[in-house]
Amino acid sequence: MFLEFPLYRALDGLDTLYRIDGPRHFVEWQPIGSSRWLVHEHVAEIYPSQVLIQSLIHADDAQLKLSREEWNARRLKRKEPEQENAVGTIAQTTEDPAVLEGMDLASWTTFGISAHAAHWITAHSDDDVRFALSWRQERDAALLVMGGGSNMLMHADWEGLALHVGIRGVRVLKEEGGRIEVVVGAGENWHDWVMLALKNGWHGLENLALIPGQVGASPMQNIGAYGVELKDRFLWLEAIHVQTGSLKRFDAASCEFGYRESIFKSSEKGQWIIVRVAFFLKKNAPLQTAYGAIQQELKALPEESWTHADVAKAVMQIRSTKLPDPKKLGNAGSFFKNPVLGPDEFKRLQTAHPEVAHYPQSDGTVKVAAGWLIEQAGWKGKHRGTHGVHVNQSLVLVHYGGATGAEIWQLAQDIMHDVHSQYGVQLEPEVNQIGLNRSK
Ligand code: EPU
Repeated sequence: MFLEFPLYRALDGLDTLYRIDGPRHFVEWQPIGSSRWLVHEHVAEIYPSQVLIQSLIHADDAQLKLSREEWNARRLKRKEPEQENAVGTIAQTTEDPAVLEGMDLASWTTFGISAHAAHWITAHSDDDVRFALSWRQERDAALLVMGGGSNMLMHADWEGLALHVGIRGVRVLKEEGGRIEVVVGAGENWHDWVMLALKNGWHGLENLALIPGQVGASPMQNIGAYGVELKDRFLWLEAIHVQTGSLKRFDAASCEFGYRESIFKSSEKGQWIIVRVAFFLKKNAPLQTAYGAIQQELKALPEESWTHADVAKAVMQIRSTKLPDPKKLGNAGSFFKNPVLGPDEFKRLQTAHPEVAHYPQSDGTVKVAAGWLIEQAGWKGKHRGTHGVHVNQSLVLVHYGGATGAEIWQLAQDIMHDVHSQYGVQLEPEVNQIGLNRSK
């Protein structure tokens, strides 16, 4: 049956409320005093909580099954204080979200290409996501999931529903021996989250400062920069299934992370909406300073004094000189992936071009700097009026204003063609192409 979860329960004769989000995840509202709730988030991983969640799902004699409306009416009778150690709460909503018509996506994507979504819903909670899923299922509308719009190029208007995931909140799950586990709503801005973590002394994400986009999109392509990838700090994520509405938790192994890859871009593509991501961070996480440009930035300071904040500052300095700020100039970061070549293929390339910028990988393959190939092929800083190749980083295509997705795609294809004919290397776009087969 569609939308099995969430289920709403109350203890008969008592004020305690439960919302069951999936077979292993439930939230408990426990009354304290006359006017407040204490909210506990439970993951049923061990025996007693597994038994409890089963009894809640089936609602034994002591429990009442409530509709969402009845349950919300009970919940609204009290206030929800923040948990003692929480810096926020993961959002819940009480009303269905609005469905807007004809939304221009230009300001919702960092490329800033104008394209209209026929319908638009912003989801502030899991319930809102389920509402949107059933809304579009009833109308058989195509679904476009939007995070920060920082990794997509729009080729055409979107005739179906654009679902913007705006689930906010940051909650500490566990803090023990200098290790902190934190769950973050998919709709939080990635950079703001990195800065919040740094401010709290939760270290390990500094090298990923200033990456545009939202937290929920970060696992999709296992974002990475300056020697750190999301997977290095990832604990689990929760996602809602597009067809059934059920919530599932994915640990790192089941996400199948690779270089700019995850299961959500391959076999499970289009199947899940990520609603929150949990991270493990450390008070004394080692500083990641191996990347040459970071060393360069930090060299004015004595090495013994380097802090996580210094690394974050160095990364922000490098990014802001090399990469265009999407608020000022439309772009989606690296448009292409760095190609990964087998040892023989790489040897052939290096023999012909000994100066090729590259990074040997632990499995014997070699990652080649696509930016180097594109620059050598003569494309760095090339301008086509409304769009072009960035002057400081050839991997980034930029939109000066007034370009269509098709024009930017044509530039990308011309670059791919030249790099292939000059170096025999096939580049692959990193950015998602939306509506490509529908554009002229
Ligand atoms: N290079 C050139 N010309 C260029 C760009 C690069 O010759 O125009 C050569 C240089 O030799 C340079 C080397 O390529 O030393 C590497 O350049 P850079 O340090 O800028 O890294 P990248 O491999 O081009 C990747 C990521 C970036 C990430 C940086 C830093 C991909 C597709 N891109 O770029 O990620 O910020 O490393 O870790 O893996 C993104 O994904 O949107 C992104 C910006």
